[in-house]
This record gives sequence, C-alpha cells and structure tokens, in this order.
Amino acid sequence: MAKAKESMFFCKECGYESVKWQGQCPGCKEWNTFVEQPVAKTSTGKAKTVRKLTDIKEPVSINKVKYDENERTQTGFNELDRVLGGGIVRGSLVLVGGDPGIGKSTLLLQVCRNLSDKENRVLYISGEESLSQIKMRGERIGTFKDSMLLLCETNLETIEDTIKRLNPDVVVIDSIQTMFSEEVTSAPGSVSQVRETTNILMQIAKGMNITIFIVGHVTKEGVVAGPRVLEHMVDTVLYFEGDRHASYRILRGVKNRFGSTNEIGVFEMHEEGLKEVTNPSEYMLDGRPEDAPGSATACLIEGTRPILVEVQALVCQSNFGMARRTAAGVDYNRVNLLMAVLEKRIGYQLSGCDAYVNIAGGLKINEPAIDLAIVMSLISSFKNRNIDNKMVFFGEVGLSGEVRAVSMAEQRIQEAVKLGFDTCVLPQTSLKSLKKELNIKLIGVNNIKDAIAII
Ligand SMILES: Nc1ncnc2c1ncn2[C@@H]1O[C@H](COP(=O)(O)OP(=O)(O)O)[C@@H](O)[C@H]1O
Ligand SMILES: [Mg+2]
Repeated sequence: MAKAKESMFFCKECGYESVKWQGQCPGCKEWNTFVEQPVAKTSTGKAKTVRKLTDIKEPVSINKVKYDENERTQTGFNELDRVLGGGIVRGSLVLVGGDPGIGKSTLLLQVCRNLSDKENRVLYISGEESLSQIKMRGERIGTFKDSMLLLCETNLETIEDTIKRLNPDVVVIDSIQTMFSEEVTSAPGSVSQVRETTNILMQIAKGMNITIFIVGHVTKEGVVAGPRVLEHMVDTVLYFEGDRHASYRILRGVKNRFGSTNEIGVFEMHEEGLKEVTNPSEYMLDGRPEDAPGSATACLIEGTRPILVEVQALVCQSNFGMARRTAAGVDYNRVNLLMAVLEKRIGYQLSGCDAYVNIAGGLKINEPAIDLAIVMSLISSFKNRNIDNKMVFFGEVGLSGEVRAVSMAEQRIQEAVKLGFDTCVLPQTSLKSLKKELNIKLIGVNNIKDAIAII
C-alpha cells in the first residue's frame, strides 16, 4: 500500500503545489521557488475565510484597546453566570462536559430559552436527537419564543453556512462527538475530527463574535474521543457532574479565560428541568440525623463560596483478616492516612477495623480543610459517641496529628452562624488571625488530641 505523503512542495511565489521538487514552477513560470513543507492535516477549505480574529492588522498599544465591561450576557441562571465569571462573553467558545444523561442538553436548552426570551437569536444544533425529541424536552422545560431556532445536522460545513446565513447571537452544538467536517476523512468522534471541528467552530466564534457552547461527552476511558483534547482550544471548560441517581448536579469551572476557576454552581434536576440551588449548605445538610454517632459537619470553601457538608463515618470490627475501607466523596488515600495518624498518635486500634467514609449529598471534596471533620467522624463512630449536631469543624490534619490553619476562616464561620450552628472547632492559628467578633462559640485546637477532648 502506498504511504501517504508527509510533505509537499509549494511555490513561494504563487502557492502552486507539487509532490516533487521542480526547477521551474508550472504555475507562475518562476525559477527556483519550490520549498518543501509538511502536509497540513486538512486541505485549505472554507474555514480559512473566517480565520481572521479581528480586522486590526497593525499592532496597537494595550492602552488603546477598548472593551466593554457590560459585554457579558446573563444566562438567566445565577449559578451558571458565576461559574462563567459573570455571564457569557461574546466571541467565546464554551465546552460543557459531563457523563451521558447528567443533563447537559437540558441545561443548555434552558439557557437557550432564557437567552431567546431576552431577544437574542439562538440556534440549537443537535446531532444526537431529532427535532421532536428536543421539542419533547422543551415541553418539560416551558414555553419558547420564535427566536429560538432548532437544527438537526452533523455536517459542519452545512452548519457553518447556516450560522453565517442566520447570524445568531448564541449557538449550541450538541454534541461535538457527532459532528464531522468533510475535510477530515476519519469518523465523527475521532480525535482528528473533534479537533478539526472545534477549530472551525472557534474560528466562527471569534470571526463572527458569537458565543458557541459545545457539548462534549466524557466516556469512562475518556481520553480518546473525549473532550480532553479540546480543553486547550476552547476559552472555558465547564464540567457538569453529580450522581446520576441523585437529583442535584454540580457545574464546575475547570478552565476559564474570563474568570476564576474552581467556582461551582449547584442545580437540582426536576420534572421541569434544572433548578438552581441557591443555598447549597442547607441542601447538603438536609436530612442530617440527630444524635447519631459517626456524623460530623465540615465547613468548606468551594471557589469563593462557603459550603457546609456532613461527613459520615462507620467504623466496625473487621470479620476478615484484611480490613475494608471505602471513601465516597473524599480521597481514599487521605482517609487511610488520617486513620494511620489516629492509630499512631492517639493509639486507637483502627487497623483491625473496617471503615466507610461518605460525604452526604454526594459532593466530591478535595479541600484539606475537611480533614478535621473526617477525623472527628471516625472517632465518633469508633467510640460510639455523638458529636453535638450544632458543632462544625474545619482544619487540615498533618502527619504528626497537628491541626493546621486553612484560609478564609471568617467566611466559613459566618456560613455556620447563618445556618444556626453554635460551636465551631477550628485550628488555633486560624482563630488567632480572626479580626471580627462572631456570634458563635469558637474553640481553637492545636492537634487532634485537643479536638478529641472536646467531645
Ligand atoms: N420527566 C423527567 N423528570 C425528571 N427528570 C428527567 C425527566 N426526563 C429526563 N430527566 C432527567 O434528564 C436527564 C437527561 O438529561 P439530558 O440533558 O438529556 O442529558 P445529557 O444531554 O447530559 O445526556 C436524565 O438522566 C434524567 O435525569
Ligand atoms: Mg444530550
């Protein structure tokens, strides 16, 4: 089988292409103008026409560049706007990733509805569902205005023409894995297709100054055709996560060229689509058991927002030689480490015990400030002793059992006060750095021994 050509010869003068070097260009008859260049993955196509990002050709002083603070458009969801850094930015490309069935299409259809209600022209392009299927989902969500347009199409060239013809303000592509460009021979969903189609969409977004949302599926293996290859191409990457069987959903910013990352937005899936959860702490603590051993409340920071969660632990004697440990919502190795600290520094015989740690509500936490609450819930379950349910904990636990300071102590405590907690156990160093008087009993601890003494 013939090997595909890796490089071609181009005429420097007229751009004539040839597979081999020639002395005289057959195109412009110039001599000695051929240079060898690697073959571009795609042939020069229509996409080239929108490759221009701005009309300005000359470099300009940064002080002369103008932009409008109010160029952001509100999506009608405060939770989404916050994750985006204050609303959608014109000319940006936003990737929304997440497992199948998590609610990406629902969220974006709702965003489309909110935007079209505010006289934006919105084009929702689906490569996965038929018009009637989308309409069915639309019925669940509510009524739409006529400025909300639907299109079922997977051919990117057709999509490009349609976008140019209609000149909408916002476009949704659902999903990038189903789209294909005629210029690439590989199948839809393959890395080169996904990369090329995103590239074209980016040129459309920048060239026409419209916002494009792209839906991307994350498969278990993820990497091959998953949206990970796109992450560096787009402006903003949002992940929609949550337990498919629980109703709440977390929208997390992973990359954002126009705002801070690690903000989260909390939604709940209802019959009528997604609803915002404006007070996630209340939501996460809902149904907390009264006076049950093994339950401790932690005060965490997600992005700029404090959030209270309940840490549950169950420690019981192991029946087999090897103790079982599971951790849901927190790092498994972190739980093992904290148990080892308890065993070594306090002398609890935990190595023969099974331990199960869970974050109620299913939130995934990777902030070290949760350590103290994990330790307390483990001890509470091990000793079968209740922790006062008006008590919250935060603090990082080190290997020698010391409790280390964490940032934003004041915001955490304020959130606890707001939700009616009366005692807060925190690192001694964080306590010292507090400036404001807060209406709550504060107990500073230096190490986990001090914390155990409290309960
Ligand atoms: N009638 C309904 N009531 C409540 N939730 C529903 C209903 N119909 C669908 N859903 C939810 O919507 C989800 C599908 O959302 P969808 O936006 O299609 O996901 P994605 O686009 O991420 O694959 C389902 O997993 C289900 O949780
Ligand atoms: Mg979908």
